[in-house]
Amino acid sequence: MAQEFMTAQRFVSMEENRFPDATGEFSSLMLEIVMTSKMINAEVNKAGLVNILGMTGDVNVQGEEVRKLDEYANDLFLHILKFSGHCCAMASEEMEQLVESPQYHNTGNYVVMLDPLDGSSNIDANVSIGSIFAISKRVTPQGKPGQLVDFLQPGRNLVAAGYVIYGSSTMLVYTTGQGVHGFTYDPSIGTYLLSHSNIRVPRKSKVYSVNESYWNHWSEGVRRYVERVKGIGPDAMDKPLSGRYIGSLVADFHRNMLYGGIFLYPGTTKIPKGKLRLLYEANPMALLIENAGGCASNGSMNILDIQPEELHQRTPLFIGNKDEVAMLEEYIKRYDLQEAVDS
Ligand code: AHG
Ligand code: MN
Ligand code: MN
Repeated sequence: MAQEFMTAQRFVSMEENRFPDATGEFSSLMLEIVMTSKMINAEVNKAGLVNILGMTGDVNVQGEEVRKLDEYANDLFLHILKFSGHCCAMASEEMEQLVESPQYHNTGNYVVMLDPLDGSSNIDANVSIGSIFAISKRVTPQGKPGQLVDFLQPGRNLVAAGYVIYGSSTMLVYTTGQGVHGFTYDPSIGTYLLSHSNIRVPRKSKVYSVNESYWNHWSEGVRRYVERVKGIGPDAMDKPLSGRYIGSLVADFHRNMLYGGIFLYPGTTKIPKGKLRLLYEANPMALLIENAGGCASNGSMNILDIQPEELHQRTPLFIGNKDEVAMLEEYIKRYDLQEAVDS
């Protein structure tokens, strides 16, 4: 047996042993999330997908068409977490308000922020999709339902963040601040096995990921940076990066973290804050990339230092290799902030 047979379950409890005063509550919460992902995976891979795909005809709080798999993933995560006893409240992309745990379950010490199904527009095309989660310790006293203030903490306060990518194989990737670890799901035994220990972003970027259809709506700084990595214009890179864009944040992020690259979802003239949500997309990815040796910015500050003001607030997201993100911030400073000063 090449690598030690390390299951996600065993890894989570080993991590717990590193903290002498751990109560085991966090470990149990993590394992509830792991179990939920296995159930979602079964639906994603189920042959009879025809009854789960397609539109529900509803739209979610973001005004986006909801596909049945979104709903299923959302309902499952909320149902399992609210009765876990470790989670006093949840925030989900699919729910306008935070979801409190019932009276006899709101003693939990943690809050969980969820993108239950990321990359929904790709569901019907059998392209990789994912689930994203972020976990913070509550700041309000135990024994009462969780409150908004428990969620509006900077990403720096997260105790854990991760995602499950339902792709050619299903993987769980998460961090508790002690490195990023990847587990590949073996459906024949229903277990995640450690396959990528301590993931580090390669030093050299190979890829840039951005939806270039918004080109005309970007700032000058973003346009000039993208020209640079494409190998055009006065600052052209000698060896341009490869353009890759899947349209599922989880899949684009996962590939860039493993291969080295930068992902951009800039603000535009129409949506200055961009599309991605801070609490359950940008923050968890920012904690992961930082623990893998990269960084994440909104163009002028580290994503993890942003003080959230509302549950579904959006943020521009530039994430990946440190030097590429720094270069992009430099371009924004030189062409956008200067422009703002001159105008
Ligand atoms: P979700 O399916 O959870 O709404 O997320 C979709 C997001 C993200 O996964 C992806 O990076 C982005 O939408 C793609 O947006 P565009 O289609 O505008 O490029
Ligand atoms: Mn998403
Ligand atoms: Mn989603």
